[in-house]
Amino acid sequence: MQATLTFLGIESSCDDSAAAVVRVGARAEILSSVVEGQVALHADFGGVVPEIAARAHAERLDHCVERALAEAGVRLGDLDGIAVTAGPGLIGGVLSGVMLAKGLAAGSGLPLVGVNHLAGHALTPRLTDGMAFPYLMLLVSGGHCQFLIASGPDQFQRIGGTIDDAPGEAFDKTAKLLGLAQPGGPLVEREAALGNPKRFALPRPLLDRPGCDMSFSGLKTAILRARDSLISVQGGLTVQDRRDLCAGFQRAVTDVLTEKTRRALAVYLEVSPPIPAFAVAGGVAANSAIRAGLEGVCAAHSVRFSAPPLRLCTDNAAMIAFAGIERFRISGQDDMTLSARPRWPLDQTAAPLLGSGKKGAKA
Ligand code: KG4
Ligand code: ZN
Repeated sequence: MQATLTFLGIESSCDDSAAAVVRVGARAEILSSVVEGQVALHADFGGVVPEIAARAHAERLDHCVERALAEAGVRLGDLDGIAVTAGPGLIGGVLSGVMLAKGLAAGSGLPLVGVNHLAGHALTPRLTDGMAFPYLMLLVSGGHCQFLIASGPDQFQRIGGTIDDAPGEAFDKTAKLLGLAQPGGPLVEREAALGNPKRFALPRPLLDRPGCDMSFSGLKTAILRARDSLISVQGGLTVQDRRDLCAGFQRAVTDVLTEKTRRALAVYLEVSPPIPAFAVAGGVAANSAIRAGLEGVCAAHSVRFSAPPLRLCTDNAAMIAFAGIERFRISGQDDMTLSARPRWPLDQTAAPLLGSGKKGAKA
């Protein structure tokens, strides 16, 4: 029986300042999870501005930590450690978090654990569902898109990923092309529900090639062309045109993700997992058409399907606190030389992917 551990987690790798307290004993418990988003700060710029994000993290993180401790009803002295995202991500933001965590660790004498942000996402099914290793994971958000076989808290094999845009990025760009607000995913989904997905012939990039790699930038270009040809013929877009373009786009992304998931499952099932399981995480996992497609593939292969609740799919610090506890148990703590890393692939042996995503180089 392992000792119960309570950790503070700190996250600041992109545009969410977050702090959380997680306790892991016989089961994992989120005592608090505070997330202060920055959507309004970046709204005028059409994307996350790294300098603005870093400044906002520096201003808000200590407040997030105070709130997380108060909401959990604990003081620093009740904790067993401090986990912080040490990369990958926008370097100014990651630095803000690492500096704060170092200060807190130095002041309190608590162990400091640097966590890979992607490991935080990839270990979330263990926090929410107690999922046993090895499981197959699809991380799919505005900055990430990869298939990972998770075999241990620091053992991840990447078996495919996007070679250009992440799907959330493609949703956001499509929204922008069609005059919808940011972040675009939920709005494109809403329009798609009222549209005809078959009206426009859109590509399914890389489905004709073997393997689990994906590409989404061509899809966005196809939407641009379809939009421009409608504008040149009609002088603008009707409400129904927009709905049909959204529906076609969403169907194409769903087709690519489900087919690539089928292939990734075939690779994963070769390792003969005792309890085959698949988990999806990241903001795009909120899309019900995509979720249903992935669930269907899993059902067809008798593989358990899990999708963490949305607040734990998107960036948060509970996943960082939990991943910190898992890492601390197998490899102990970091020292004050812990540094912030803009790039930090989870699978150090896999060849680098070409894409970097709108929110900066990830892996
Ligand atoms: O995981 P996340 O909060 O942040 C990172 O990118 O790391 O994901 C945000 C992304 C955005 O691109 C957003 O448009 C997309 O997830 N998203 C969706 C939906 N909700 C959020 N994409 C498609 N359908 C949705 N319902
Ligand atoms: Zn993330």
